[in-house]
Amino acid sequence: MARIAYVNGRYLPIGRPAVAIEDRGYQFADGVYEVIKCVFGQPRDLERHLDRLERSLRELRIAMPMSRAALRRVIAETLRRNAIRHAIVYIQVSRGTAPRNHLFPKNAVPSLVVTVRRAPFPKPAEIEDGVDVVTLPDQRWKRCDIKSISLLPNVLAKQQAAEQGAREAWLVDADGRVTEGSSANAYIVDQSGTIITRPLGGEILGGITRQNLFAAAKAAGVPIVERAFTVAEARAAREAFLTSTSSLVLPVTRIDGQSIGNGKPGSITCRLLDAYLQAQGLAAVI
Ligand SMILES: Cc1ncc(COP(=O)(O)O)c(C=O)c1O
Repeated sequence: MARIAYVNGRYLPIGRPAVAIEDRGYQFADGVYEVIKCVFGQPRDLERHLDRLERSLRELRIAMPMSRAALRRVIAETLRRNAIRHAIVYIQVSRGTAPRNHLFPKNAVPSLVVTVRRAPFPKPAEIEDGVDVVTLPDQRWKRCDIKSISLLPNVLAKQQAAEQGAREAWLVDADGRVTEGSSANAYIVDQSGTIITRPLGGEILGGITRQNLFAAAKAAGVPIVERAFTVAEARAAREAFLTSTSSLVLPVTRIDGQSIGNGKPGSITCRLLDAYLQAQGLAAVI
């Protein structure tokens, strides 16, 4: 069955040309996006994702393309038409279509595209053995808190990581401190069992999974300190992991080719992963 996309008021087969050449998303990466997980057809954390979408749009002075209630209906209808059990919903809003000019067009109508695909959850071996990350310079802009579609540095970092045999790149600022992954938040657990992760700010995206992870850690009595950590600290950590909507809570067992802890997923990471899977209705799925 061909996948169906919602494009500016129409439901179309995903392969059909449907976006204007002068869409500013295409020409300037002038837009934002969201990625929402659906389990048994039900979106998870939908309101938080829509909150973040609205915030990203506000920061860039792009109007919401429709009311929140209407957007919920479009998401539900796109899910229904694609009939995928465990899915990832992708929402993209650009500033709209206008003759190419850096300045904001007057009276631009934002473009909205919604697509759905099978959720690319981690493979069992990745959860059981953990994954490799490599550290690379963070070459992104200073507003990584906005979920902008301008992802070129993230794309280049992820590609380089893959070419080095790693699942993810952890990006490192000019002071040698990890910001986050190319498409996930980054965490270590120190020798005392405290989780350390970068505080919110322009250097990282405020992950929805990060919010869930904080709630799971609080419920489990695991302390979290929000501060930047260095690559050296990460290599000396007891445990490491990353979080994102599609990678969930994923153990990291090697950084730059060096084993973390005993080289196996850490006990705190595994506890928090289990709590997260329970909370998301994913325990029987993964
Ligand atoms: C750069 C970056 N950081 C963090 C995340 C994690 O965010 P979330 O947990 O909302 O998926 C993502 C997700 O795509 C990301 O691209």
